[in-house]
Amino acid sequence: MTNNNCVNCVPTGFPEGFLWGGATAANQVEGAYDEGGKGLSVFDVVPFVPKDERSEGFDLEPTAEEIDAVINGTSKHTNFPKRRGIDQYHRYKEDIKLFAEMGFKCYRLSISWSRIFPNGDETEPNEAGLKYYDNVFDECKKYGIEPLVTLSHFEIPLNLVVKYNGWLDRRLIEFFTRYVKTCFTRYKDKVKYWLNFNEINMIAMSAFVAGVKTKELASDVNVKQVTYQALHHQFIAAALATKYLRKIIPDAKIGLMLARSLNYPETCNPDDVRAAQEANEFNYFFSDVQVQGKYPNFIKRFFADNGVCIEKQVGDDEILAEHTVDFVSFSYYMTTVATADPKRATPLGNFAFGVMNPYLETSDWGWQVDPVGLRTALNDFWDRYHLPLFIVENGLGAYDKVEADGSIHDDYRIDYMRRHIEQMKEAVKDGVDVMGYTMWGPIDLVSAGTSEMSKRYGFIYVDQDDYGNGTLARSRKDSFWWYKGVIESNGEVL
Ligand code: BG6
Repeated sequence: MTNNNCVNCVPTGFPEGFLWGGATAANQVEGAYDEGGKGLSVFDVVPFVPKDERSEGFDLEPTAEEIDAVINGTSKHTNFPKRRGIDQYHRYKEDIKLFAEMGFKCYRLSISWSRIFPNGDETEPNEAGLKYYDNVFDECKKYGIEPLVTLSHFEIPLNLVVKYNGWLDRRLIEFFTRYVKTCFTRYKDKVKYWLNFNEINMIAMSAFVAGVKTKELASDVNVKQVTYQALHHQFIAAALATKYLRKIIPDAKIGLMLARSLNYPETCNPDDVRAAQEANEFNYFFSDVQVQGKYPNFIKRFFADNGVCIEKQVGDDEILAEHTVDFVSFSYYMTTVATADPKRATPLGNFAFGVMNPYLETSDWGWQVDPVGLRTALNDFWDRYHLPLFIVENGLGAYDKVEADGSIHDDYRIDYMRRHIEQMKEAVKDGVDVMGYTMWGPIDLVSAGTSEMSKRYGFIYVDQDDYGNGTLARSRKDSFWWYKGVIESNGEVL
């Protein structure tokens, strides 16, 4: 109960209108990679590689020859799961109906840029692509589900990779601006919540998510220079997206999207504490620019130490300063432990780097589960920005077992979600302004990192394996009913 006369009154639970729901990305669910006039996108050329043949860490990037071979049909690979997704392109009505049955208030999805501009650099959009998303948004509206739309979820048109080396080329700003203006204009009556670049900080792990082919660079080229130059172009494009949103849909809101990494020091040794601080600052860099409208000082030091010099044009500083975001969204899967000893740090879980935390459990994919870290991350963000926060990804990738009667008892998933939502609620009680929670993968989908189907996140099971075998039939797991109860009670029944 809140007493308005009392200085220490605190919220007791989630606010009315809290945006409960789930999140997906076009390249992981749609399939139909060559239908409706769609052009190839960067993930359409990333093959499935079985676990024992995969390299450690995050290495999605095919070479230019491999890309050519895929385009010419001479690749040795035949299994490209993101081309088929879960066939949502043909089944969106069924999927959205299931989301509605769970009571979703919000569905986060992305628009595939190459459905709208198949090559990325043409001047006229593809009407069939635009129409597809009209249908999807109309279907959401039918059930009162608010779409939250990501403009770029690792889905750059392949042509822009091949011809321009992705975001390294400044002309991408012009192409992206054309694309976002087209989307805003077309969907102005249907979409009020937008995100610019999904996990914009992933570029630091692999510039290929921004279409930059780092494997083709000469050996004397500084990869960091290339990466941060491409990122600068994305920052300008993101700021321009804000600018045009204000003009075209003045009552809409746009947010940034960060892969949140909370770093703990391994010990209280001041060197470890400093290592953690540096890692946390590095994570904040990507959101600071978009919230505060300028590059923070600590990153200028990092650039100087790493021989990075960002080439900017007259007016760039003003663009960044004038068009900042309305809210901060982020994915949260795990936390990391930082050490001052570089020899002890290894790649971990969700493209992170550090040492294992002995206090936490680990998922089947080595991601360390840390619900309390979510409360800390929310409080830190709030203290830094005082902007509304939106958790737009959080979930557990796990193996599911289908029983003889078709049921799936995924109590491990319920336990994971429950503990995270409990901590999110604690943060709300701490006074953090959280506007919504769209868990990742309400329906099983193709993994971004490994292209597996067997890494399942969903409340809804999809009958398909890593090789595309299966009926694609959808069925409800135990967690489906549990999440329905969570939404119905606005987070009171967990
Ligand atoms: C985030 C991405 O990194 O994590 C999603 O935004 C992705 O696209 C999610 O699917 C989970 O990662 P993965 O590799 O398990 O699919």
